Parts: sequence; structure tokens; C-alpha cells
Amino acid sequence: MNILFNDSSVTVAIVGCGGFVGCHLLDAVLARTKWHVFGVDLDFYRIQHRLNDERCEFMVADLADKSVVERIAKYPVVVNLAAICTPSRYMAEAPEVIRSNYDHPAALVDACAKSGSWLIHFSTSEVYGRTSADSGLLVEDETELTFGPVTASRWSYATAKLLTERYIAGLKNLKWTVVRPFNFVGPYMDFMPGVDGSGIPRVLANFSSALVRGEPLKLVNGGVAKRSFTSVFDAIDFLFALFEAGQMGRASVLGTAAHAACVTECVAEKSPFSQAFNVGNPDNEITIAELACKMREIFAEIKGIPLESIPEPEKISGVEYYGKGYDDSLRRLPSVEKAERLLGFKAQTPIDVVLRESLTWFVMHYGFPNH
Ligand code: UGA
Repeated sequence: MNILFNDSSVTVAIVGCGGFVGCHLLDAVLARTKWHVFGVDLDFYRIQHRLNDERCEFMVADLADKSVVERIAKYPVVVNLAAICTPSRYMAEAPEVIRSNYDHPAALVDACAKSGSWLIHFSTSEVYGRTSADSGLLVEDETELTFGPVTASRWSYATAKLLTERYIAGLKNLKWTVVRPFNFVGPYMDFMPGVDGSGIPRVLANFSSALVRGEPLKLVNGGVAKRSFTSVFDAIDFLFALFEAGQMGRASVLGTAAHAACVTECVAEKSPFSQAFNVGNPDNEITIAELACKMREIFAEIKGIPLESIPEPEKISGVEYYGKGYDDSLRRLPSVEKAERLLGFKAQTPIDVVLRESLTWFVMHYGFPNH
């Protein structure tokens, strides 16, 4: 085991540890390291099996509570995953979306700047904004960030996330890394409407729900938008590559003198600090219509039913489906060069593998009989 991961004196704070990415990160930290975890969330149903783990301390809270923010920032590494991040909410709940994605994290940013914690803040690939169908690779420190008009409230979320990134980058004494996820998918993503959540979840969960209910998949604006889907397990590997690079680039972030021995001039050049990273898988780029096609086929195989018995997808306009103010990014293709160069990380999981794994999990988890 890596010297850093073997150090039981390290505690990592995970904000949003009961969420989709948080629950996988928690499992991985406990499996791959001897670290302790301070986990904060409002909902712990995904991590019930961890609630009595002696290496974990959990708190039911959110970042709106200033005293909790101070407490979180006492730990040397803080991973902030908390956010409202489902597009169906960006229109009707724009003020709340902005508070959740700017005001609350900004308080945590200030607290980390004061305490000296390393803040690993999850932003979004949506900061690249209203990309067109022929947009090329999205490069962290080069690509223009362009949003729609204020009447297109879809961009409330991206605007708040971007402002938080700028706030983070503007603070001189903060140790920070920003992560821009490109459509992470896997088990435990979002919810099944009417079962453990309401409204419209992101596309993987929404298509999975429709499939198990025998309803047609809805192709918003014809399903022409493209996304590069990334396995959540690759995303967790990215975080471990980041932890390792943080140890080597600036040993003091994780404490002990033993870590200081790891610092060399050479690795300092590869510092992960003061960087925004795309975390995505450009090999997994497909249109949403292609995603629907793949998910229907995989579902038919999992259930052992003929493809023809699954309803054909239906087209619907974005405004009709999500409401006034909906807009979209037509293509989100990540450049992953920086993560590869600085961290030696590259996502590996092909789209068919992660879709099969996710859909199998969904069918088993929600336990629905054949429709
Ligand atoms: C969302 C969030 O806004 C991002 O912050 C987040 O980073 C991203 O998910 C992510 O998962 O990484 P988006 O990709 O638009 O952005 O989220 P989805 O709701 O999953 O939509 C993807 C595409 O599928 C969109 O074009 C949407 O219109 C379409 N869609 C969605 C459908 O055609 N049918 C559906 O039932 C749901």
C-alpha cells in the first residue's frame, strides 16, 4: 500500500458523502486506505452499510450551516461533492440552485483558505456552457465559456458553478483543485421518480426508470445532443491519482514527516494544485438517441425479453419536457490531456460495460418484476 494511503492518521472530509459519487468514494477510501472519513450529507440511504464503521464519523447537515463549514475545514483534505445538479431543477428553482452551487460552497472555500485544508471541489462540465454540435475538444485552460441569455435559466447552475471556480481561483492562500465531471454514470446514480425521488433525474436514471416501467424513453429535442459518459469507478480512480499527486507535490497537505520525504523537485512540476481538471472519457461519446438504443438492447438482454417488446423512444421538445428556460449543450467532448500529463490518469471503462453494469444494478436495486 502507498505510504500515504497506509497512514491511519489522515482524515478526509467528504461533503455529499451520501450522494452518487460520495458513496463510491467512501467505499473506495475504506477499501484502499487506512484513512478515516468525516462524512457530511442530508441523506445517508446509499451508505447505510457504513454508518457503524469505526473509521467513519457522519453528520447530518448541509453547507448552509456555517458551524458545520468550520468543522469540515478542520480536516486536511476536503472533497466537496454537494450540489443540486439535476437539470430539471435549474429552471423552476434557479435561486436555490445558485445558493447551493455558489453561496454554500463559497463559505466552505473561505473556511478552507483560513484553515489551510486542500479543497477538492467538484464543479461541472456544464461550465463549458452552450456548446454547439460542432464544438471540438473542451480544454480546461483554453476553451471559451459561453452561456445563454438570463431568460434561459438552464444556465443558472453553470453560472453559479463557474463563479465558484473563479472565487476559488481568486483566493491567493487556498490550496485547491477543481474537478469538472463529464456525465459520470454507474450504480446509485440519482433516483427512480416516485420511488426514492421526484422530478426528472439525469438521463441514465431516467432511461433506466422508463425501461423498468415499460414506458417509452423520451428523446429531448430528438436526442441529437452528445455526451461523453464516464464510469463513476474511473472517476474514483481519478481522485486516487489526485490524492497521490497531492502527496508528492506538496506533502504537507497530508501531514506527517514521512510524507515530506516524498517531495522532489521533479514531482513539484506536476503539482495538482491550482488546477481545474476535466474528468471524462472521450472514447465514450455518443448521442442521446444512441444511448437510448444501447440501453434498450442491454435491458432486453438482461431481462431476456425481445427488443420489440420494449416501446420505441419518443421525441419531445426540451421546453415541453423540462419547462420554460430549458436550453442544452449539444456536445461535451473532454480534453483529458491535462489529467494524463499531470496525474497519469486516463478513464478506461467502455460505454457498453458501464451501461450494462448500471442497468443491471438498477433492475436489481429497484426490484421490479418483468413488465
Ligand atoms: C447534467 C448536469 O447539469 C451537469 O452538471 C452534470 O455535470 C452532468 O449532468 C453530468 O451528469 O455530468 P446534462 O448532461 O445535460 O447535465 O444532464 P442529463 O439530464 O443527463 O441530460 C443529458 C442529455 O440527455 C441532455 O441533452 C438532455 O436533454 C437529454 N435527456 C435527458 C433526454 O433526451 N431524455 C431524458 O429523459 C433525459
